Amino acid sequence: MRILGIESSCDETAAAIVEDGRKILSNVIASQAAEHQKYGGVVPELASRRHSEAILGVVRQALDDSHMTLEEVDGIAVTFAPGLIGALLVGVSYAKGLAWAAKKPLIPVHHTEGHAAANYLLHPELKPPYLALIVSGGHTRIAAVTDYTTFQTIGRTRDDAAGECFDKCARAMQFPYPGGLHIDRAAQNGDPKAYRLPHTKIDGSPYDFSFSGLKTYVVNLLHHAEQCHETVNRADLAAALQTQIANVLTDKTIAAAEAYGYKTIALSGGVSANTGVRAALQKACDERGYTLYMPSIALCGDNAAMIASQGYYNFLAGITADESLNAMASKELHGESVDWKGGI
Ligand code: KG4
Ligand code: ZN
Repeated sequence: MRILGIESSCDETAAAIVEDGRKILSNVIASQAAEHQKYGGVVPELASRRHSEAILGVVRQALDDSHMTLEEVDGIAVTFAPGLIGALLVGVSYAKGLAWAAKKPLIPVHHTEGHAAANYLLHPELKPPYLALIVSGGHTRIAAVTDYTTFQTIGRTRDDAAGECFDKCARAMQFPYPGGLHIDRAAQNGDPKAYRLPHTKIDGSPYDFSFSGLKTYVVNLLHHAEQCHETVNRADLAAALQTQIANVLTDKTIAAAEAYGYKTIALSGGVSANTGVRAALQKACDERGYTLYMPSIALCGDNAAMIASQGYYNFLAGITADESLNAMASKELHGESVDWKGGI
């Protein structure tokens, strides 16, 4: 079964065709990042306009690259939530029109669930149940994936996502948008022990995250240094920040895996490209004999192959939509119950 995936939740217009949820036949991404760079972050109205301009060509390219016609596609999967509402609406409206015109099933996909599915594209042996750590610019979440379409949240951020913390600190350090990658690069030459950064704990919620305190600490440190005419070693500060974020993500994920009895962990989302996060989690998993899955770097960030993959499993589970499908800026995961206490 071949699913056409469409993604437009933030600043990437993407389309892909994936066979049986696992094999990429085409994967096209038109990134707007360079355009948003001059504003230091994504400008929502600009993003919507660029999606409108790009989507037709991107979908056409995805069909061409896979040597397929629309008639040969078995279903159209689209990110409907969460994200920038205007941006999401472009993909959702386009997918609805396409599904109606071509008489194909329309399959709604939650963006965060799509990120988790990126691992299916590289690791054929990965199957639920497993523990997912999904870390991006908008989300930080530990979820038990009990079957392909049931995600039980164990921990989530109480404020900023890890990616937002990377990006806001990077901006204050005068790195270009999106800053996570620049922090990663600078950190390679830095000493993580040169700065002591706060490690947040949330009383009574051992698996929840909070990154706003860390972000504020770094921004204040930079402002203070500027006012006192002191120099900040950007490489050292980047290394300290990256190590702190990697340690927090690793510690809470391992604690959740131990508490809930999971020995298989799958990391995903834009921040899963971070070398420090990958290394810290890999080391912790190796020490315990856990198996860690991570997407290829190219599939860590937003793409439509992951949406087509999750779309395939949604379709098998009977999750389809009609023309009343609407975009949603925020939405819980499928099958989610926040007070879930189960294990495997
Ligand atoms: O998944 P994604 O492409 O979009 C969202 O769904 O938010 O994630 C984007 C985030 C941004 O915050 C970006 O700075 C971060 O992923 N990111 C990184 C790296 N590459 C991308 N953060 C740290 N290190 C990286 N190498
Ligand atoms: Zn994303």
